Amino acid sequence: MKELGIYVHIPFCKRKCHYCDFLSFSGQTGLIEKYIESLKQEINKTIISKDEYIIKTIYFGGGTPSFIESKYIVDIMQLLKENFNIAKNAEITIEVNPGTVDEQKLKDYFNVGINRISFGVQTTNSDLLKVVGRIHSYSSFVNGYNLARDIGFKNINVDLMIGLPVQNLLYIKKDIERVLSLNPEHISVYSLIVEEGTKIEEKINAGELYLPTEEEERKMYWKVKEELEKHGYVHYEISNFAKPGYESKHNVACWEQEEYIGFGLGAHSYFENKRYSNTIDFEEYFDWPENSKILHEKQSKQDKMQEYMLLALRKIDGVKISKFKNKFACNPIYLFREQLNKLVKKELIEIDNDDIKLTSKGIDLANIVWQEFI
Ligand SMILES: C[S@@+](CC[C@H](N)C(=O)[O-])C[C@H]1O[C@@H](n2cnc3c(N)ncnc32)[C@H](O)[C@@H]1O
Ligand code: SF4
Repeated sequence: MKELGIYVHIPFCKRKCHYCDFLSFSGQTGLIEKYIESLKQEINKTIISKDEYIIKTIYFGGGTPSFIESKYIVDIMQLLKENFNIAKNAEITIEVNPGTVDEQKLKDYFNVGINRISFGVQTTNSDLLKVVGRIHSYSSFVNGYNLARDIGFKNINVDLMIGLPVQNLLYIKKDIERVLSLNPEHISVYSLIVEEGTKIEEKINAGELYLPTEEEERKMYWKVKEELEKHGYVHYEISNFAKPGYESKHNVACWEQEEYIGFGLGAHSYFENKRYSNTIDFEEYFDWPENSKILHEKQSKQDKMQEYMLLALRKIDGVKISKFKNKFACNPIYLFREQLNKLVKKELIEIDNDDIKLTSKGIDLANIVWQEFI
């Protein structure tokens, strides 16, 4: 039986955060009903043999899946259960913005089988939350978190951001202290990317907001890493930390180049050596949701091996040479000797027995490692 992941995209938000360029829209609640009907149509028309594939992960991402009424999420989950062979121990995640969730929604998620909640928190400083355009406060996050625990969720992720305007090490220490006191199973820590065309970019260019320097931002990163590791979290990917056994199966599957099918506007899929994404145009999606996939890449074996290296070098335990050999019947040390030699010389990776791993410098300069493989 082959393993498969499912991604469901919900492209609606209550309000657009100032830093975000994800495919998500505010002020479009009138489209939600129609969108869910199209999603259902797309799911119904996607035939994946129950004898051939077992679903190991389901991920409701966005946008803000918790913004729409929970009856829609329940409907989609029920449809997925009817149409696909879902593993008993499947990891089923929903992304939640703390400003859009209440007890009933969390109960509905739990009762329909969702077993992992991912809270977008970003910072626990309520003033800074306002600066970056978030709709929630620190206390509304704590309320939502405690509700989720009371209802029975045993696997909770918290998303934090570093390198935000005015943020400094003191803010970060407070964030870590507060988040650790809640004891989540998983913590993601993203460095702010100033995306083109976002409000935050505009404000920085206008001199209204200042970012920490790169050096300060790196100090924040290493502080987070030090504190989380001290408290038993495993740093398993550049931006991700988990208690042992709680590494996100959804994330790990993506980095290990496993197959997944994406449903919804702009959703990506990786299936039978091909990468696709759905249209990002609502009208096109509504017209023919099951046929809105655009083929981006049909991978040759060489493409696939190269991509595997690139993805695996985001993980802290890097590439297992033996695993690569088993998967592709080739030796990566020989195949990528030029790129690897360059990276070793720049002290960005180290090669040791069965491992090709990022060094501390490589963790800091992950983008350069990435560029060597594209
Ligand atoms: C789809 S959102 C999470 C769910 C929900 N929409 C929310 O924001 O609460 C995914 C995560 O991406 C991160 N993110 C979004 N835009 C980013 C940016 N420009 N730079 C770094 N991280 C970003 C945030 O940490 C956010 O929680
Ligand atoms: S960060 Fe989350 S809530 Fe904010 S606009 Fe992006 S997807 Fe929406």
